[in-house]
Amino acid sequence: MKTQVAIVGAGPAGLLLGHLLRAEGIEVVVVERAAPDYVLGRIRAGVLETTLTDLLDRLGLGERMHAEGIPHDGFNLADGERLIRIDVAALTGREVMVYGQTEVTRDLMDAAPSRGLEVIYEAADLAPHDVEGDAPYITYTKGGAQHRLDARFICGCDGYHGPSRKAIPASAGQHYEKVYPFGWLGILADVPPCNHELIYANHANGFALASMRSATRSRYYIQVPLDEKIEEWPDDRLWDELALRLGPDAAAHMTRGNALEKSIAPLRSFVFEPMRHGSLFLAGDSAHIVPPTGAKGLNLAASDVAYLSEALARYFRSNDPDGVAGYSARALARVWKAERFSWQLTRLMHRFPEADAFDRRMQLADLDYIASSVAAQTTIAENYVGLPL
Ligand code: APR
Ligand code: PHB
Repeated sequence: MKTQVAIVGAGPAGLLLGHLLRAEGIEVVVVERAAPDYVLGRIRAGVLETTLTDLLDRLGLGERMHAEGIPHDGFNLADGERLIRIDVAALTGREVMVYGQTEVTRDLMDAAPSRGLEVIYEAADLAPHDVEGDAPYITYTKGGAQHRLDARFICGCDGYHGPSRKAIPASAGQHYEKVYPFGWLGILADVPPCNHELIYANHANGFALASMRSATRSRYYIQVPLDEKIEEWPDDRLWDELALRLGPDAAAHMTRGNALEKSIAPLRSFVFEPMRHGSLFLAGDSAHIVPPTGAKGLNLAASDVAYLSEALARYFRSNDPDGVAGYSARALARVWKAERFSWQLTRLMHRFPEADAFDRRMQLADLDYIASSVAAQTTIAENYVGLPL
């Protein structure tokens, strides 16, 4: 089989890139390891920058997002005594859209057949080949048979654990990684949110986050030690701790309910440079990971594929190599600024095991300064809504 662009991975990055390339008339095939339901089953953040909502609108795929998503013009930081509201709309003129990543992926997945976007699911043992030349290909097995897909370019949208980044020789790239000394325990429950906006709380016991999926479905998180066992957190204990960490006002409006999903995820910051090697490009989690504190993971995948689709369109439309040559540097400039914001907000809002009393007072002083400074709030707001492409 032959195409112009082979995309590895049908998560949000792979599917969004596939749609953007199809909209440019470029032949593309997406090859995904899992079945569609498995891809949709991953619970992930749901705060969309206009970076992403604009792309969905441009593709004519934003209808359900606008119908079911919740526009937010602000969010809150809590320091155990008060809510510090960051009025992103007033400070930046922009909002964010609360709409689950699963729903974004579902919208992209459902629209693929009508847009001529071929997605091959349940493709096992995928391997990229000859990525340093101009005739790369991938091999995979499906239905017990070995398959080969030849392409001019391969786009690795296969996440942190996928094969694409590993196809780049160690000597040709540079890893940057920070693993945080704690994880997030998340719960999904069919209960109304405790606040109409998100609350990020820094409590002496640790971080907590009150988020949502809709007016009747909430998503909460608490920071837990890395070696924490989910069995140690029955629902009641988790609701008690959330009420304590989020503060009295949130607790007074909190509705408890049975967990539809409950899991612990580690936090890391990770970047691989460059995001291109020969005819292989990396986009999304295959190239970078952010701690979920800043809700940047999905939005960075969107900016990567916005840059990459533009670069590939220039190549196939005008045989202009400059876009693909400049993709990595352009994408990394935005990636590193999002890494910075996510790392800073994580440091501000979490209790680090090695932190002493002075460190705690620095966090509280930081939050007190933010509460009193429009300049400080504007800095946070412009990063939260997403820096320009
Ligand atoms: N062969 C084919 N597909 C693969 C392989 C493989 N060997 N390995 C991984 N994949 C697929 C995964 O099954 C997944 O569907 O690649 C896809 C990668 O999707 P994501 O991990 O969601 O990454 P991305 O599309 O970059 O989206 C980033 O997703 O994980 C969240 O927090 C992250 O919000 C961020 C967003
Ligand atoms: C979520 O709703 O899952 C969510 C929201 C904001 C974050 C992280 C996760 O920063």
